[in-house]
Amino acid sequence: MTDMDMGTGTGMDTGAGTGTDTGTGMDTGTGTGAGTDTDTDTDTDTVSRRLRSGTRAWHEALETTGFATAMLAGTLPLDRYVGQLATYRVVLEILETELARATCPSVGSVWSPDLVKLPLVERDLHHFAALGTAPEPCPAAEEFTDEIRRTAATEPRELLGFLYVLEGSTLGALFLLRYVTEAYRLTDGNGVSYYGSGDRTRWAAFAERLDRALGEPDVQERVLAAAERAYHHVAVISRELSVGLDSPAPEPV
Ligand code: HEM
Repeated sequence: MTDMDMGTGTGMDTGAGTGTDTGTGMDTGTGTGAGTDTDTDTDTDTVSRRLRSGTRAWHEALETTGFATAMLAGTLPLDRYVGQLATYRVVLEILETELARATCPSVGSVWSPDLVKLPLVERDLHHFAALGTAPEPCPAAEEFTDEIRRTAATEPRELLGFLYVLEGSTLGALFLLRYVTEAYRLTDGNGVSYYGSGDRTRWAAFAERLDRALGEPDVQERVLAAAERAYHHVAVISRELSVGLDSPAPEPV
């Protein structure tokens, strides 16, 4: 992986070492991966840096979905936004249950109550249901929850790869928040409890706990592979939410 400046304004922008947000991308000064993302020595690299650089291509693909581009254009139909929340509700319920009951020390040292999102998504869904918008979750949610249960039973540490993707997505959601609020004329935080839940301090603490818990390169490899599987499921869900919206859905990388 070479250092690539993508400052195109919507994605993972690696503006070298400045720490300032130069577009809507990821600033490089805080949270995961200090300084520039250069060729990484996997033997000594932190898991949070490996996750960030190892999944960048997935992230870029997700930013080009019909769902994402319509959201950024302010043209995303409300039932797609609420459909995403309904789908994440199904996934988060299983993931958070399995993380909370895992007895594996690595999971125990990373998972914490301040990472719980289910009540936030449920609050948003109640808000829209009261307004008559209550779409079904995407069918692809089931494949993801089957994968979560299987992983919890066989390799619970890999649940941390799934958590990295979903917790990380709330950082980007902070950027998307104003597009959603404006598009649906939402007020007083109604309907955006989940999208508004991203928190850099919580993210930095989460990344630090991940790095402490997952030092062995082969374990990092498996958690990275799990994060890629989670991105695959999110890509399939995004494809289902993008049906009929003009730009084509991404092919999983
Ligand atoms: C239009 C769609 C999206 C945009 C514009 C976007 C934007 C961003 C931005 C700006 C950040 C960096 C935030 C920061 O460092 O403060 C970020 C981080 C992240 N996003 Fe997205 N995002 C999008 C979609 C997604 C989706 C659908 C997922 C997965 C479900 C996702 C997963 C992540 C992850 C895991 C991180 C943390 C990366 C790291 O620092 O290791 N993003 N996103």
